[in-house]
Amino acid sequence: MTKLIFTLLLSLPFLVQANQVTDSIAPEDTFTTAIKQSVSANKFMVVTANPKATEAGYEVLKDGGTAVDAMVAIQTVLGLVEPQSSGLGGGAFAVYFDATTQQITTFDGRETAPLAATPELFQDENGKSLKFFEAVVGGRSVGTPGTVKLLEHMHSRFGVKDWDTLFKPAISLAKNGFEVSPRMANSIARDKERLLSQSDTADYFFDDNNEPLEAGFILKNKAYAHTLKTLAKKGAEGFYQGKIAKDIIDKITQHPTNPGVLSTKDFDIYEVKERAAVCAEYLVYSVCGMGPPSSGALTVGQILGITQQFDLKTLGNKNPIAWQIIGDASRLAFADRGRYMADTDYVPMPSGLLEANYLKRRANLITKGKALTNDMVTPGEPAWNNNKPVAYADDQSIELPSTSHFVVVDSYGNVLSVTSTIENGFGSRLMSNGFLLNNELTDFSFASHKNGHPIANRVEPGKRPRSSMSPTIVMKDDKPYLAIGSPGGSRIIPYVANNLINILLWEMDIQEAINSPHLTNRFGTFDLEKGTSAEEYKMDLEKMGFKVNIRDLNSGLHGILITDDGLTGGADPRREGLVMGD
Ligand code: GLY
Repeated sequence: MTKLIFTLLLSLPFLVQANQVTDSIAPEDTFTTAIKQSVSANKFMVVTANPKATEAGYEVLKDGGTAVDAMVAIQTVLGLVEPQSSGLGGGAFAVYFDATTQQITTFDGRETAPLAATPELFQDENGKSLKFFEAVVGGRSVGTPGTVKLLEHMHSRFGVKDWDTLFKPAISLAKNGFEVSPRMANSIARDKERLLSQSDTADYFFDDNNEPLEAGFILKNKAYAHTLKTLAKKGAEGFYQGKIAKDIIDKITQHPTNPGVLSTKDFDIYEVKERAAVCAEYLVYSVCGMGPPSSGALTVGQILGITQQFDLKTLGNKNPIAWQIIGDASRLAFADRGRYMADTDYVPMPSGLLEANYLKRRANLITKGKALTNDMVTPGEPAWNNNKPVAYADDQSIELPSTSHFVVVDSYGNVLSVTSTIENGFGSRLMSNGFLLNNELTDFSFASHKNGHPIANRVEPGKRPRSSMSPTIVMKDDKPYLAIGSPGGSRIIPYVANNLINILLWEMDIQEAINSPHLTNRFGTFDLEKGTSAEEYKMDLEKMGFKVNIRDLNSGLHGILITDDGLTGGADPRREGLVMGD
């Protein structure tokens, strides 16, 4: 067994920035430093954000389970040991390579807006957008959870192990207790005020003196164990019907200061959607991921397609001009994302966002060595094919870092890349039946219109909020070559795109790529990862015309490379992840 990765040599305590910019206030946005080395295996492999979840997945795979069997064990454990990031109260996207059909497909377990929601959900009586956390904390931000149905739906198609057996690791940990991890403890302490404002949540995450649980504390969760036993016995019906559904709805609708409008009908009609993967051609690879309602695969695909017009290979990854090109390509892709991308079951979208000629035209806007000025970074004019173009206004949603990514390759050759979330760290801060409820609806634009034009990602009844989640499987010669993804709010997109460039173009070892410092640009400012060699690019990028900000960039990239030589896994040193394989 290859059960190693590791950490060590250097393991600094969490560092918290004193002066935080507006979008760095999420409780999960912390920074660890650790060194990890890639791990190899031959038959199967799993990488998740937490050792307990990785171990649970590993045991399932070792026992002949499929990647989807492992997914059930992993997700139920993650919801316990990393509750701030994902869980039963949230949603997820899965990109899946089926070894039997040799096809890639995707499954959308995204939360939905209540049928009773209106485009003004996050506006006050004067039509003014609410402040982010005013909207988040309470029942208003909670969408119909999708994760449990996603697990059941995929298990019924791709699982070989009995459903109820897959809940055992999480039930045992919930009943007997698990050690609160440093990351979880730090996240609780950083969100103290908001968590204490909700009594059930405070009871779980704080001691009798209202002090946050510390790392190493043995935490039990009897309510969660009970919920899992119900799901093990009754399946997803035990979640979407009956007491659990009623408790969730009561919690949301009866919130004293910020109630929501979710109803039993929303739970009754919730469905997982299978959608064709969105694939972008890059070098000799096909980079496949999640299409709308996620903006992930389209925006990642645009960044790759635009940068492909330049000779980044020759420039090399230590060249500031290479990063200027990647940064400007990302800004152009984010401009299209903000204008056009949303749930296409509700709004039309251009068809040409990944067309080669369109991306060439976008690349032509970029000048090597000189940053685009802000007025040059506007949405492009991609083709609409059969659709009548819609004059949208740009999206106005805020997305803070959170979420969890895991990847699994099983011994049958199936490959799974899943990004799972309750949105912000600790979601809506509401807890029911031992798990947190999401605040996914704040991924919608709070404003519904601007200057008379509708915003594509506005709230509508039953609609799924636009996501940045980018679970990815890269194909080479029609075979899976790489599975990767990350948490990180809308920075998920540059984290994933930049690492695809690191691995596919610059041919870095997967762990070396994940370890390497982040340089990200979404909306003009270049963010350079604090405490790393990325800081050295500051002067050069400023000279080219960028505003530069040095900050923590807390990705959680987890990936597996699949070659004729076997499997190589990488886990992000910025989180607590672990690779295991055989
Ligand atoms: N809530 C994170 C995302 O969907 O991108």
